Amino acid sequence: MTAASDSMALARRALAHLRNKTTDQAPGTMQQPIGAYSDPERHAREVDRIFRHLPLALALSVELPAAKSYRAMTVMDVPVILTRGEDGVARAFINACRHRGAQLCRAGSGTAQRFVCPYHAWQYDIQGKLTGIYGSATFGDVSAQTHSLTELSCAEHCGLIWVMLTPGESFDVRTWLGDFVTQLDTLNLERWFLYDQREIPGPGWKIAWDGYLEAYHHNTVHVNTVGRFTIGNLSLHDTYGPHQRIVFGRRTLRELMDLPEEQWEPEKHIRRIHLGFPGLAISGVLGDHCLVSQVFPGPTPDTSITRQSVLAAREPVTPEEKLATESFSAVVLNAVRDEDYVIGAGVQAGLKSGGNKSFTFGRNEPAVQHFHKTVASFMQRAVGVP
Ligand code: FES
Ligand SMILES: [Fe+2]
Repeated sequence: MTAASDSMALARRALAHLRNKTTDQAPGTMQQPIGAYSDPERHAREVDRIFRHLPLALALSVELPAAKSYRAMTVMDVPVILTRGEDGVARAFINACRHRGAQLCRAGSGTAQRFVCPYHAWQYDIQGKLTGIYGSATFGDVSAQTHSLTELSCAEHCGLIWVMLTPGESFDVRTWLGDFVTQLDTLNLERWFLYDQREIPGPGWKIAWDGYLEAYHHNTVHVNTVGRFTIGNLSLHDTYGPHQRIVFGRRTLRELMDLPEEQWEPEKHIRRIHLGFPGLAISGVLGDHCLVSQVFPGPTPDTSITRQSVLAAREPVTPEEKLATESFSAVVLNAVRDEDYVIGAGVQAGLKSGGNKSFTFGRNEPAVQHFHKTVASFMQRAVGVP
């Protein structure tokens, strides 16, 4: 199916729901015992099984814009450096010197000819190779073969840089993404302009993430922000293995009711949200802007960190473009930090109260159901990519 015919098909599906006051549904409701959100042992196993042993989208390709770009970050206690080599290839390394483990660079990004360890000045090139040892004549027997940086399996695909956080484990990105590739490809993520990035502390990762998976709360929680643009409780749901796509109707969808299909511009009336398992959401909310969210578990079941990247179709230049991009950025920050995560903090606070032994996921929350079933399936199977 071409992107255009896909858009038309999605607009037809959404419009039918709007007419009938319906939404895509799961076959039944689902109960999720509260322990899935609160049990520290389960949390630690999820971090290990899901986040340490499956490929994660750690960065956008545009975060490493040129040869010799790097980005250093700590992801769930793992210090990582992403680099783009002189050959243009994105690579990932553990940010720990092979001498006695000092971090080679602080969190942040830039360009570098080489990394010089701040402890005893060992040097590595941008491709992780050990290239210099201070006082090498006195040090003894080490070499680039034995002491280059520890590399993590890494693949650049669909404008994202995918990394396995466990050294020595590899993955095939096409196998991991499956049919989801055709979805991600339509976004052309590598062509967008990166306007802003920030980290937002939030409630437990699954409480935070559940909010990305449905429009049922849009007319209530987001009545003054993103909910102004979307129709609450109307969504389309499609799955691609562990990954998902949900589509919301924009308020303007109603206009299509009286318009012949030849005159439709379907993209103006729907919003796609692509959900990469376990915590990647790519959503266009307003016109030429896109929000990429990466939700990572914190050290405890009641904390998470969300990295928000605000993208614009092109670098805003005119005052109008700057204003539009800044207002998109402000709206999505407001919606997540001050609305979703405030609600989430309340959910978190009530978990131990005994008020709920389980949560109930509605038939109108099929993506929430699919996500929790996917978590359960990964917890039951051997580690690694299916
Ligand atoms: S720890 Fe890096 S040179 Fe010693
Ligand atoms: Fe929300």
